[in-house]
Amino acid sequence: MDVPAEATRPPLDSDQSCDVLVIGGGIAGVSTAHELALRGLSVILLEARTIASGVTGNSSAKLSALQGAVYRKLKRTVGAEAAARYAELNLSGLERIATLAETLGTDCAFLRRPAISYSREPEGLRTLEEEFDAARDAGLPIEFEPESDLPFPIAGVLRLDDQAQVDPVAWTRGIAAALRDLGGRVFEHVRVTGVKQGSPCSAETDKGHEIQAGRIVVATHTPILDRGLFFARMDSQRSYAVAGRIESPLPTGMYLSVDEPLRSIRPMTPGESGESALLVSGEGHRVGTGDPVERYLTMVEFLRDEFGAEVSYHWCAHDEMSPDHLPFVGPILPRNDRIMVMTGFSKWGLAAGVGASLLLADRLVGVDSEALSTFDPARASQFRQVKELTSHSVETGFHFAGDRLRKRAAEEDLKPGEGAVVGEGLTQAAVSRDDEGGYHRVSARCTHLGCIVSWNQADRTWDCPCHGSRFETDGSVLQGPATDPLPTADQPDPG
Ligand code: FES
Repeated sequence: MDVPAEATRPPLDSDQSCDVLVIGGGIAGVSTAHELALRGLSVILLEARTIASGVTGNSSAKLSALQGAVYRKLKRTVGAEAAARYAELNLSGLERIATLAETLGTDCAFLRRPAISYSREPEGLRTLEEEFDAARDAGLPIEFEPESDLPFPIAGVLRLDDQAQVDPVAWTRGIAAALRDLGGRVFEHVRVTGVKQGSPCSAETDKGHEIQAGRIVVATHTPILDRGLFFARMDSQRSYAVAGRIESPLPTGMYLSVDEPLRSIRPMTPGESGESALLVSGEGHRVGTGDPVERYLTMVEFLRDEFGAEVSYHWCAHDEMSPDHLPFVGPILPRNDRIMVMTGFSKWGLAAGVGASLLLADRLVGVDSEALSTFDPARASQFRQVKELTSHSVETGFHFAGDRLRKRAAEEDLKPGEGAVVGEGLTQAAVSRDDEGGYHRVSARCTHLGCIVSWNQADRTWDCPCHGSRFETDGSVLQGPATDPLPTADQPDPG
């Protein structure tokens, strides 16, 4: 598959119109746009940065319907039928990825592997037994295994064959190229700043051009629109991945623990990393809280202590966690058939994102399915998770109020490479220093709803603890729901 160089792609330089506008060039958005084009609709895809450069490219690249002990939870919270639909969503996405990789000839390191849930603790056996029953009820042919090929003792193992790993960036860019071949218009470096519902709908962009569309699909991770209040219904989490070469034979499966602390373990292929390396990830926490450097170091120690490997690569994943673990796929508001949303994939958005694109594309050409009702953003089970939603809101309120009262650091104390919020009350500024010692000052008030951002020393970004927006040191948006940059802050009055 020939993926055209970025420089050869036409920029957005005029107003445009189409049947469906898809906002967001991650795997879910690109796959949806492609499926719609295959169904004969005219499609425009807008991406604020480059295709697959966000969450898709920073995932652990697993395609698996077995996900730790998730069916045990789903059976209790949303019931066995919804759990079975979730399994099917993942399997259908996985098979679609496999089929398109083969038919398009995309060089994306697709490789079948077993997915494995494991417990190191004897107490975890009960969890595995319950997961076995729930996953079997969901239609997954999982089996208990007598042992694992991990180098440390484990209490129990569940295995699901024929799952896979893939280079999600290569696959998604291959699909974007196929979309262009079908006549789809793909524009990168275009940020949508506002959406109006109507007939047609319209989207404003930061390039000053308007897109008119019969329907709009918002696939921007956290939706950029506040309608539907998705930012308040989900929890934004960061987790940490490190990888390094190991001397002993690589494990053959893609492992995920069911006991705390959660650890994900997956072999990397030479095609992915240039060598046979092992990837481990974990230490998930809410965006904008805790110490990311410490969490990275915990993963570095895990890789070294358990596998004898030094770290060659590291990166962060950013996930939107849905309270009932099911993604939100469908109308942004009840009875709104004009604007659709895809979000809340709870760390498993590769296969599930592609599975969701199939359901949504069918719906947009008038083919409804029972399965889609399970993932409807207005589903009743959403609102049964009141406890989790309430604790999230309380925590957000705490950040909103508490961060205004906190006494802040002095910017003279910052060393090169560091950042801190300085000042008090409404004049707080987010100040960072680059490696050369230069200062960068931007407003500390998140442009989404005004929470105070916090410094992420590991990534050198400003992260919002309320709903997960992230900003570069110059204030530009890395991750929504915010769409506007942090404005430059005035320099303090030396007098
Ligand atoms: Fe909502 Fe910052 S992301 S206030």
